[in-house]
Amino acid sequence: MTTTKPPLTTRDIRVRRAIQVALWLPALILAVLAFAGYLTVNPVQTAIQRTGQIAIVLLALSFASSPVKWVTGWHFLSFLRKTFGLYAFYYAVIHVILFSVVDYGLDIGLLAGALTARPFIIVGLIVFIILLAMAVTSNRPAKARLGKNWKRLHRLVYIAAPLAGLHFAWALKGDLFRLSGNIFWPAVYLTVVIVLLVLRIPAVRNRLSSIKPGVNKTGAV
Ligand code: HEM
Repeated sequence: MTTTKPPLTTRDIRVRRAIQVALWLPALILAVLAFAGYLTVNPVQTAIQRTGQIAIVLLALSFASSPVKWVTGWHFLSFLRKTFGLYAFYYAVIHVILFSVVDYGLDIGLLAGALTARPFIIVGLIVFIILLAMAVTSNRPAKARLGKNWKRLHRLVYIAAPLAGLHFAWALKGDLFRLSGNIFWPAVYLTVVIVLLVLRIPAVRNRLSSIKPGVNKTGAV
């Protein structure tokens, strides 16, 4: 049984707008700190790191929205899932622009060299392509055009979320398998993603939904 999303109330729309405005604040703060010269001695690298961190946190929040909704029944989370997902993509765009344009001057030779020398960048690129595909198809006309394929496409987040964790861990040069290096936050992120993936297993999910009757029980992203 599936339930349709109830429309947003005026209050919901206001809350969503406030969240959207708030989600630009980290970018604004970063820009102000960078232009004022307060963003460490290596501002470009720091900005790449911070935008990557913000993107991955927003991706996790988007990924967590559905399971939390199944328990709480708070339908507004369906809309927040999209907002968090889109902003994860926007911060990933800033992250990629800072890396490829500001740091590497869009030098194709240098960028190709970076891809081969630092394979974690290829992982980041795969995540970025998935986020891009999801972002450009997140509107109603695209959803109607794609039909059943829309859900299939948006399930790629199940791949993107763990891969983002791999990119994160690798970028910090941590070794997840030997538990060495700077792996604390990537490990926290990956644990959260694994729990969220387990919660999507139909049997687990139906149990969760039964805590709050009337919640969509099938096929959510
Ligand atoms: C073409 C796509 C991407 C490229 C070229 C790229 C590039 C990079 C580079 C070069 C770093 C290392 C920065 C440094 O420490 O010097 C990095 C780190 C990172 N990236 Fe990406 N990235 C991409 C996509 C993504 C995406 C899609 C996400 C998240 C959704 C992401 C999240 C992160 C995170 C969390 C870090 C670690 C930041 C830290 O040091 O704490 N990246 N990325």
